Amino acid sequence: MHILVTGGTGYIGSHTTVELLNQGYQVTIVDNLYNSSIKVLDRIERLTGKRPQFYQTDILDLLSLENVFKENNFDAVIHFAGYKAVGESVSIPITYYQNNIAGSLNLYQLMAKYNVDNIVFSSSATVYGDNFQVPFKEEYGSGDTTNPYGTTKKFNEIILTDIAKANSKLSCVLLRYFNPIGAHPSGLLGEVPNGIPNNLVPYIAKVASGELEYLRVFGDDYDTIDGTGVRDYIHVVDLAKAHLKAIEYTVKHRGIEVINVGSGFGYSVLEILHAYEKACQKPLPYKIVARRPGDIATCYADTAKAKKLLGFECELGIDEMCRDSYNFTKMNPDGIE
Ligand code: NAD
Ligand code: WQD
Repeated sequence: MHILVTGGTGYIGSHTTVELLNQGYQVTIVDNLYNSSIKVLDRIERLTGKRPQFYQTDILDLLSLENVFKENNFDAVIHFAGYKAVGESVSIPITYYQNNIAGSLNLYQLMAKYNVDNIVFSSSATVYGDNFQVPFKEEYGSGDTTNPYGTTKKFNEIILTDIAKANSKLSCVLLRYFNPIGAHPSGLLGEVPNGIPNNLVPYIAKVASGELEYLRVFGDDYDTIDGTGVRDYIHVVDLAKAHLKAIEYTVKHRGIEVINVGSGFGYSVLEILHAYEKACQKPLPYKIVARRPGDIATCYADTAKAKKLLGFECELGIDEMCRDSYNFTKMNPDGIE
């Protein structure tokens, strides 16, 4: 099977490409390298012995993207390409709607034109907003999103649902990721945040490497085990494997399914910090500061649907997540260059 992976040189896309190639899939990546390096292709080749076909193409460029469809015969698409920084999306919403909505529409339009009917879309637990009780269940639908980034994910879910209503051949899995962290155990692939990280584990990694002085813990007065925010962290390699299950599902079914991808467990900020201290074998300084606006106390997935429909369960725990994050950080002090 030939899979088009948009955003395939990015953090989750590169790990997914490795799993796809290892399982014998043919992979073509489309990425404009806005948030990733061309060197990722060398790393993927080192890990798999295979080099995916690569187009440095912006999905906003309809003519170039059409060229990719003309030159290939895809069986399915995994659509990762997009912007993902929550805070930035509040400052530059038009840019986010342009890239994540208009770019996606180009892709969906070409899929229809070239009869590519299977798609797995990168959605996010952020679409639940702050409306529901944990564990978050797919049947809740989506809530009021709290930032433009989240709204772009919610709109994509709605757009794909409408496309599925109009095209009975379409098979779509909307994967709602919880908090992906960690890196490839080889240390060759991982997350390379731009500037000072917004997310917890990339920030802790920079404290561990000495680049940042201490972690700011956003609030210790939530109604949680130790007062700090609780999230459902999933190892990026487990998440990558969930995409293979989702692709297998799309080829056997028609219609659209929303599926959570998380571990089903919640860890607090301090629990993650202490797990990371174990991984790097040193104490990591932190200070409690005010809550971060927009944060909720607790977020974790109901994973029953992923298990039932995809046969997917996480295999890696918090120790592996922190170990692999730290290993990647040590091995790549300048990122993937
Ligand atoms: P990433 O930034 O590492 O990867 C996205 C890739 O898309 C990058 O390589 C970037 O260069 C590329 N890209 C962006 N705009 C493009 C465009 N117009 N044309 C072509 N390529 C473009 O992000 P990631 O963490 O791997 O996330 C992948 C997807 O998963 C995103 O859609 C993101 O919103 C979603 N997601 C991520 C998380 C997370 O915490 N990382 C959680 C939930 C959902
Ligand atoms: C986790 C916990 C913070 C940084 C975000 C997006 C979501 C999805 C995943 C894309 C919270 C606390 C954090 C720090 C801290 N991405 N924290 N100090 O907010 O759960 O989810 O990434 O779809 O859409 O919103 O992840 O890693 O930012 O925060 O105390 O410096 O760590 O308050 O409790 P979040 P996060």
